[in-house]
This record gives sequence, C-alpha cells and structure tokens, in this order.
Amino acid sequence: MERAEEEERGMVIIILGAPGAGKGTQAERLVKEYGLRHLSTGDLLRAAVADGSQLGKLAQSYMNSGGLVPDDVILGVIRDYLEQNKGGGILFDGFPRTAVQADGLARLLKGNSATAVMLAVPDQLVIDRLSARRVCRSCGRVYNPALGIMPPGGRCECGGDGELYQRDDDRPETIRRRLEVFHSQTEPVLEYYRRQGTLREVDGVGAPDEVFARVKKALV
Ligand code: AP5
Repeated sequence: MERAEEEERGMVIIILGAPGAGKGTQAERLVKEYGLRHLSTGDLLRAAVADGSQLGKLAQSYMNSGGLVPDDVILGVIRDYLEQNKGGGILFDGFPRTAVQADGLARLLKGNSATAVMLAVPDQLVIDRLSARRVCRSCGRVYNPALGIMPPGGRCECGGDGELYQRDDDRPETIRRRLEVFHSQTEPVLEYYRRQGTLREVDGVGAPDEVFARVKKALV
C-alpha cells in the first residue's frame, strides 16, 4: 500500500454538533484565539450556490431539503482546499458529517491528529435558535434577535450593505429534517472520535462566551 506523505499541519480542530448547536459561533472565536484557518463546508457550499457554480447547482437541492451533499463531493472539496492551503492549523466546521467523511479526512490529514469538539445542545433549543437566526448577506456573520445577538440598528457593520436575511434551510420543516439527519448520520462520527480518544464533549447551553470558556478548557 502506498504510504501517505507526512505533512506538518499544526493544530487541527473539528467542531461537531447538531444544526444550530453554535458551531459557527464558536468557530469564529476559536480561529481568532488559536490563529487557525476556518473551513466551514456549509459556508463554502452556500457561496457555491450563490455563484451558480457546478458545485452549487449540485449541492442546492440537498441543502434545501435538509439532507447531506454526497460524501465524494464533499471529500473532493476538502482535498482541493487542503492542497491549496498547505501547512498551518485548521478548524473544520460542519465536517466530517458521516463516518465515510471521517475516514476520508484521516487519510487527507496524512498523519496529523485532530481533536473533535462536540457541542451538546437539546433539540428544542436548536429549533428555537435556528428559527430566529439571521445572517449578514455581505459577510456571513450570524445574529439572533431572539437572543439579543444583534448589531446596533439591526444592520451588520461589516462595511457591506449590512442586510440580514433568513437562510432557506432555517424553515421549521427543514430544521426538523436536518436534526433527523444529524441523529442518524452524524452521531456515528462522534463514536468514531470517541474510540480514538480524541472527542471532547462540551455543554453548548449558555451564552456564547460561557460556552467558549468551556471549549477552551476542553482543549487544554
Ligand atoms: P451548515 O451550514 O454546516 O449548517 P448546520 O450544521 O446545520 O449548522 P448551522 O450553520 O445551522 O448551525 P451552527 O451549529 O453553525 O450554529 P450557529 O453558530 O450558526 O450546513 C448546511 C447544509 O450544507 C447541510 O444541511 C448540508 O446539506 C450541507 N453540508 C454542509 N456540510 C456538509 C458535509 N460535511 N457533508 C454533507 N453536506 C454538508 O448558531 C445558530 C444560531 O444560534 C445563531 O443565530 C446564533 O447566533 C445562535 N447561537 C449560537 N450559539 C449560541 C449560544 N451559546 N447561545 C444563544 N444563541 C446562540
């Protein structure tokens, strides 16, 4: 068998959790704290949909129905990203989401180990958070009026036009489907990292900064 070429990567963090568990919210803090690259497969796919690229056309129907984009497509995207961004620490947000993706990532990391952080949040809280979520159309920053997480004046101050919108997959029936998919297809990924001894489970209930303090403690 061909031996994977080793490549020094630095810190590799995987952030896992149900839709709306706060992965993106914590990822933003983690990349600042540890100086990591941030790879969110959800953000990357939404950008592809907005561009109307071949990847976006393929991904759109899966995303709108709350299902997962096929593993081979996602692994191709990750492989390309890692080839174009060699070295340095990295944070994967929303990936891997199936056991096949977890196996694929282990191969692509070429001997570098990863720590998986699982944000545990009850389903009902996920539904409440996602139903109220708003996203800046220019920079992708996430807000939540129901939780008081809003920019002054109700518009993002990123320098773009600051309009906030609701994601197509944040409708109640799609949220329910995404939760089912998480329990059936992504929970086995937790077991994958638990068996390797690299899973850190963190209580995701509480204010974002409280959760972040727990995440940092879990990474020590
Ligand atoms: P993706 O974009 O990854 O969506 P998701 O996993 O469903 O997660 P979300 O972005 O909805 O939530 P989050 O956990 O990041 O929470 P957030 O921080 O925003 O994927 C979308 C779709 O793309 C998938 O359904 C699939 O089709 C496809 N896809 C993506 N990756 C794939 C892959 N690897 N394989 C196959 N398909 C893939 O927080 C949510 C809300 O709560 C926000 O409003 C926020 O302000 C608020 N909030 C966050 N933390 C707190 C807190 N502590 N207290 C109060 N409010 C909080």
